[in-house]
Amino acid sequence: MQLKNTRERWGIVSQALHWLIVLLILGQGTVGLWMEDLRNGPDKLQVYALHKSFGLTILALAVLRLLWRWYAGRPEPVPGIPRWQVSIARLSHWLLYALLLAIPLSGWLLNSAAGFPLQWFGLFDLPAIAAQDNALHELAEEIHEFLFWTLVSVAALHAAAAFHHHLFRRDATLVRMLPGSWSHGGPPQPPAGSRRDDR
Ligand code: HEM
Ligand code: HEM
Repeated sequence: MQLKNTRERWGIVSQALHWLIVLLILGQGTVGLWMEDLRNGPDKLQVYALHKSFGLTILALAVLRLLWRWYAGRPEPVPGIPRWQVSIARLSHWLLYALLLAIPLSGWLLNSAAGFPLQWFGLFDLPAIAAQDNALHELAEEIHEFLFWTLVSVAALHAAAAFHHHLFRRDATLVRMLPGSWSHGGPPQPPAGSRRDDR
């Protein structure tokens, strides 16, 4: 299995980051929606602290993923896909990346504006990124929730497109994002090398 992306498929690092982030987002969104209804007390504080720590982890993984994408390039579009569909896919991918950064940052902002401290799994402190401000806290909370539902909508369309390619067009779009043994995509190709464009 290739570490780096090739012209034909995603390498193991991109795949691992993609699916790890998907799993973390599922857990994070579920906990985020559920935790607000918990009764006030130490358990609620603990769940909030975990939500924040996992959220910061997603932020770090998203940054890592973008750096890796810049370094390792990406596969060519699957042959036969019309140009306009390739353009829409690219646009939606960059929107997903933007949301992966903006959602945790809005969480960090709402936490700072509320005047709460921020730690990563109790191991170290992170600075506030805004001064305490009730109006900003309310606004950032709205934005945090809105961006989350935007991500849910875009990711649902994105996953539907992946299944459509797999089930109806029967092309390699989905399998090339899965570990090698799941696909029969032919021999490994040379690494994308130093291609650093973001086409
Ligand atoms: C990708 C990462 C994240 C996702 C998907 C996510 C998702 C959510 C969701 C769905 C909610 C419930 C929204 C509502 O119904 O009002 C929520 C609430 C919250 N999130 Fe996040 N979150 C993420 C990262 C963060 C981070 C990094 C922080 C802080 C550093 C944070 C702090 C909070 C807080 C404090 C609330 C509760 C707001 C309230 O009391 O109304 N989140 N989050
Ligand atoms: C939180 C949910 C998700 C997020 C944030 C997300 C994000 C992304 C991003 C940003 C890319 C573009 C990679 C790049 O060009 O660098 C991508 C590619 C891909 N995603 Fe997702 N994804 C999610 C869920 C899913 C699900 C549920 C599926 C399938 C069932 C899926 C299948 C794929 C496939 C097949 C590709 C490769 C497309 C190609 O080669 O052109 N994703 N994803």
